[in-house]
Amino acid sequence: MAQSSLCQPMFLLAFTHTPKRLASDIASDQGQVLVIVTAAVGGFTLLVILTLFLLITGRCQWYFKAKMTAEDKRQTDYHNGHVPFPGIKTYVDPDTYEDPTQAIHEFTKEIDPSRIRIERVIGAGEFGEVCGGRLRTSGKKEIAVAIKTLKGGYVERQRRDFLREASIMGQFDHPNIIRLEGVVTKSRPVMIVVEYMENGSLDSFLRQHDGHFTVIQLVGMLRGIASGMKYLSDMGYVHRDLAARNILVNSNLVCKVSDFGLSRVLEDDPEAAYTTTGGKIPIRWTAPEAIAYRKFSSASDAWSYGIVMWEVMSYGERPYWEMSNQDVILSIEEGYRLPAPMGCPVALHQLMLHCWQKERNHRPKFVDIVSFLDKLIRNPSSLLPLVEDLQSLPESPAEDMDYPMFISVGDWLDSIKMSQYKSNFMAAGFNTMDSVARMSIE
Ligand code: ADE
Repeated sequence: MAQSSLCQPMFLLAFTHTPKRLASDIASDQGQVLVIVTAAVGGFTLLVILTLFLLITGRCQWYFKAKMTAEDKRQTDYHNGHVPFPGIKTYVDPDTYEDPTQAIHEFTKEIDPSRIRIERVIGAGEFGEVCGGRLRTSGKKEIAVAIKTLKGGYVERQRRDFLREASIMGQFDHPNIIRLEGVVTKSRPVMIVVEYMENGSLDSFLRQHDGHFTVIQLVGMLRGIASGMKYLSDMGYVHRDLAARNILVNSNLVCKVSDFGLSRVLEDDPEAAYTTTGGKIPIRWTAPEAIAYRKFSSASDAWSYGIVMWEVMSYGERPYWEMSNQDVILSIEEGYRLPAPMGCPVALHQLMLHCWQKERNHRPKFVDIVSFLDKLIRNPSSLLPLVEDLQSLPESPAEDMDYPMFISVGDWLDSIKMSQYKSNFMAAGFNTMDSVARMSIE
């Protein structure tokens, strides 16, 4: 029996054992098969998960990067911590292209120079002259344009930096963002052609027209700038150099954000100074966290927007006057903030102070700023209380107000999570913010 069993094939052995042995052997073999199958399936699953992880975290970018179009980049890139939503257009940093000329092709239109007529020099840029002229459009219409030229003798890096601004501007389409008409790159001089803004830059325009505008006109300008900035922040673009000198004004007083180009704009900006960490930053316009550790974001743009508001309401005054940059940094750190310019409505100074909160997450978003300014425009009497009026009141409540000047008592109560008291306030006759501000002194 023992002998015969030795000669039998292995699979028969199982059937020649006693019934007890047979059952345990079957169980043991099945267990082994189960272990092998489980290990194989587990290993395969792990491999699939690892591959997916590498693809999702972009560790295979070296493989895909060269093949990417702008649309692919929009889907995969996370710009400045901004997570793009499907279907919402987001900004693509031209520097992510291995070949920058590909970004220029993708985002700009090449203009035949025969369609451009240069008429006069209107300024000087870092790369060459800025001229005024005319552009014949495809519909045979002639439009006024500004033409930035790249002066001869440039090196490849300068040409790339010069055209980078066009690759950025070409991605935007908004009434409060300067419009790119196109570029000339196939002949010399290399040019960037943009819409013409008759009143030039906002800071000098305001200085030339000191005291000439109504508060509503000034708020209209601010509303336009905020709307342009909302568009940029929705696109995931951080400007970093928002200042009245970088806003252009057209003949209808429409303000448009200009000067794009990331680091380059700071090279070009006479206000940008070197920090101790070697960055070049326009100190008076820049949020403390951006100065201290280069934390630029839409929230640091909101700080700069508050400074632009101050420039507008003071008709182009220099922020912090003749204080040195170092004194500005120290004063801000100690809690000092710019006082309201003369004739400034309380509501606007409160909004500025809101933009200058040290904690960046407490600053208003551009969407909030636009809707706040819209409410002011719709209800002009909300702009009547001026800071100097409140300051002249006995026991001025202005010093105690640590809330922004809301349009309605309802808005204010909502903001401090006390909406349930609206009816009490109304019943007691406190139906304007002015009456609320006076509560303590009556
Ligand atoms: N200076 C710089 N850009 C300009 C523009 N687009 N229009 C008028 N003046 C300008």
